[in-house]
Amino acid sequence: MTLSRRVLRGGTGLLVTGALGLGGCSSAVEPAPISAASSPGAARQFAPGAPGVGDTYFPTYGNGGYDVDQYTVKVRYDPATDRLSGTTTLRAAATADLSTFNLDLAGLTVRSVTVDGAPAKHSRKGDELTVTPASGLIAGNGFVAEIAYEGEPEPLRNEATGVGGFLHTDDGAIALGQPESASTWFPVNDHPSDKASYDFEITVPDGLTAVSNGVLAGRNSVGGWTTWKWAERSPMASYLSTVVIGKFRLTEGEHKGRPVFHAVTTELPEGAADRSIAETVEVADYLESVFGPYPFEAYGGVVISDDRIRYALETQSRPVYSAGFFRAGSNTEVVAHELAHQWFGNSVSLARWQDIWLNEGLATYAEWLWTEHDGGRSAQRSFDARYAGSSGQVWRTPPGRPGVENLFSESVYQRGAMTVHALRVAVGDKAFFQILKAWTAQKRNDNATTAEFVALAERISKKQLDKLFDAWLHGTERPARPEPL
Ligand code: ARG
Ligand code: ZN
Repeated sequence: MTLSRRVLRGGTGLLVTGALGLGGCSSAVEPAPISAASSPGAARQFAPGAPGVGDTYFPTYGNGGYDVDQYTVKVRYDPATDRLSGTTTLRAAATADLSTFNLDLAGLTVRSVTVDGAPAKHSRKGDELTVTPASGLIAGNGFVAEIAYEGEPEPLRNEATGVGGFLHTDDGAIALGQPESASTWFPVNDHPSDKASYDFEITVPDGLTAVSNGVLAGRNSVGGWTTWKWAERSPMASYLSTVVIGKFRLTEGEHKGRPVFHAVTTELPEGAADRSIAETVEVADYLESVFGPYPFEAYGGVVISDDRIRYALETQSRPVYSAGFFRAGSNTEVVAHELAHQWFGNSVSLARWQDIWLNEGLATYAEWLWTEHDGGRSAQRSFDARYAGSSGQVWRTPPGRPGVENLFSESVYQRGAMTVHALRVAVGDKAFFQILKAWTAQKRNDNATTAEFVALAERISKKQLDKLFDAWLHGTERPARPEPL
């Protein structure tokens, strides 16, 4: 989705200008033979797209040479047989002259691939699907790829980050996970640097609900099967996609002209979970007052009960919560955390996983702000408690480079939030809240890095902050107590 930037780092050394005809497809363009000159003096070298984007922590995630603008994922899933079948269509633009390109797809069997309507060759190697279009794809041109596939979906198991992706439940399924999940149920450029809009059409046996991201765009039943259509029209990182299939208590409403759609598993008696996610819009309204306008077209939450998922995830516009969060009663702090991610993580997305503190530190800080707003302890006292009480492990682990094994560690969350508070103390409240609002406004629907956050904070506060961020993000011992600069 972030075309200009990706074209510039496309790696061909060839700066492509002109219309990036995203809506169109390259079949209208004279097909260029592989490794031949398509016009005098401009010899094109069609080369395979890279099998990864080169993320510092997960180099094989995503792929090089193209940028997806829109996915249409149409799948049918039968919980009785655990079989999924469907087609995914993606509209993309080449960012390099491509002889082949890769998609990430874990398990499942590819039946056919077309590119711009013409059959394309395809091969698999592990979780990489390589597509060879009938003719090379020219940098800057749009193309449409359609992949038909089926099989029994399997989740991905990562030693450091846990299980991600499609899980079969008793009477349904849950597709969820960070840093990866999507490739277990559709072919995808699976890295947050390539955000796209999504249409989902999920067909399940009548009587089951299929909840996904964004706006409910229709549901209809034919021959014992119900198709649930969801549309997420704002750019979304692939790990923020979800589908949850099963029996749910649904609540539909409207808030500020946007649809609200909540779903709570019927395995839970009505109670604290329902009450907590019902607070979603109130929490969102508060966060809007500190972070700027709510970034998406819909609101909602999904509560699941499955022993394999013990976290909540900020799936775009509709976070998914493990029922465990509500076992002891209402819990709006977790709602504040997942909603804060709609700004920090979802609208303003990571460019590389190493910067995860930008998501988790700010979302954890949002919990502290919400607690204070809600009449609980002040953010200052939340800071003080962690500053005094955090373990040696937290001080040894730098949240700015936590390593893959500590991606979701206490340091990233708590020391990340302490970093945010240290910034606030250093620059004062006025500049601090200006920084947060400017960040969400300037990087809306985009990707961003820690370096850019620091630069913005310095610009707005007119203070030099490198020492502060260095100590808090990169130091391996407890930084000095923050003071106004
Ligand atoms: N980002 C999620 C949150 O809001 C947590 C995801 C945990 N993922 C994991 N693989 N452990 O806190
Ligand atoms: Zn989080």
